[in-house]
Amino acid sequence: MADRSLPTTLIHHPYQPPAGFEAPQVGVHKASTVIFPDVASLRARDWKHKAGYTYGLHGTPTTFTLEERIATLEGGRHCVLLPSGLAAISLVHLGLLDAGDEVLIPENAYGPCREQAQHELVRWGIGHRLYDPLQPEALRGLITPKTRLLWLEAPGSVTMEFPDLAALLAVAREQGLVVALDNTWGAGLAFQPFDLLADGGSGWMRTFLRPMLEQAGYRAVERLKDDERPALVLAQAEGPVAAAGATPVVRLRASVADTGDGSVYRYDREGVLQAVRQAVGR
Ligand SMILES: Cc1ncc(COP(=O)(O)O)c(C=O)c1O
Repeated sequence: MADRSLPTTLIHHPYQPPAGFEAPQVGVHKASTVIFPDVASLRARDWKHKAGYTYGLHGTPTTFTLEERIATLEGGRHCVLLPSGLAAISLVHLGLLDAGDEVLIPENAYGPCREQAQHELVRWGIGHRLYDPLQPEALRGLITPKTRLLWLEAPGSVTMEFPDLAALLAVAREQGLVVALDNTWGAGLAFQPFDLLADGGSGWMRTFLRPMLEQAGYRAVERLKDDERPALVLAQAEGPVAAAGATPVVRLRASVADTGDGSVYRYDREGVLQAVRQAVGR
C-alpha cells in the first residue's frame, strides 16, 4: 500500500463505507471495469447469472435491482436490461432468427422494428411479413415453413388498436411460433403480458377462459368456496382429474391435434363453449 501513487490510492482506497445504508432511491453505480478480489474469482466469473459482478455493462447493483423490479412489475421470471427499446427489439431479432427464417410483424408495430426488418434483417437473409393485428384469422395464411417469430404489440404504436391477443396467440401456439411482445405501452401496469403468454396455469384461465365463459353467461372460478358445488369441472386433459362425483367434466387439451379422447383444444372458443353447453344442458 505504502508505495502507491496518489491516483492508484484514490481508486483503490482503503476506506470502505459501512454496510447497511438503505434509502428508497437505489444508489447509482456507474462502471465498466469491475475489480475482483483475486485472479481465481476473475476466472470463476459467469456473466449469465446474477451471483456476482463481471462487467459494468452486464450488471451493477443498480441495474440488477432495476431488472428484478421490472420482472416483478411485468410478472416475468427474468429481465435483461438493454440501453434502449430498439436495442431490445434488435436483441430479439439477433437472438432468435437465422438466415432463411421469417418474422411476422404487425402493421401497427413501432416503426423502427419494421424498418429494421426491411433494411437490416433482409441483408442477412431474414425475411418478414406484415400482418393486420385486427384480423387474427388471416394470420394463419401468412405463416410459412420459414416463419419462426411472431411479434405482438398491444396496443399498436400511434394508432392504438388493441388486438385480440388470445386469438393471435392461439394461432402462434398451433403453428409452433416463438412469440415476442413489445409491452412498451402496457408497461406491466396497464397490461401484464405473462398472464396471457403463460402456457396453462391461471394466466390462461384469467385472460382467456374466464372472460369467454362470463361473456356466455357462466360464472367461472379457480377455487370453490367450502359450501359451493360446481355445475361443471374444466380440467386439463394432460393432468389427473380430481374426483368430481356426479359433476360433469370437460377435459381441455394443450395440443391442437385431436387425441380422440373426447378432450377439446383449449383455445378453440367454439369447441369449448359447445362442450360446456352440452355438459350443463344450457
Ligand atoms: C412501442 C415502442 N417500442 C419500442 C420503442 C423503442 O424505445 P427506445 O426509444 O428506447 O429505443 C418505442 C419508443 O417510442 C415504442 O414506442
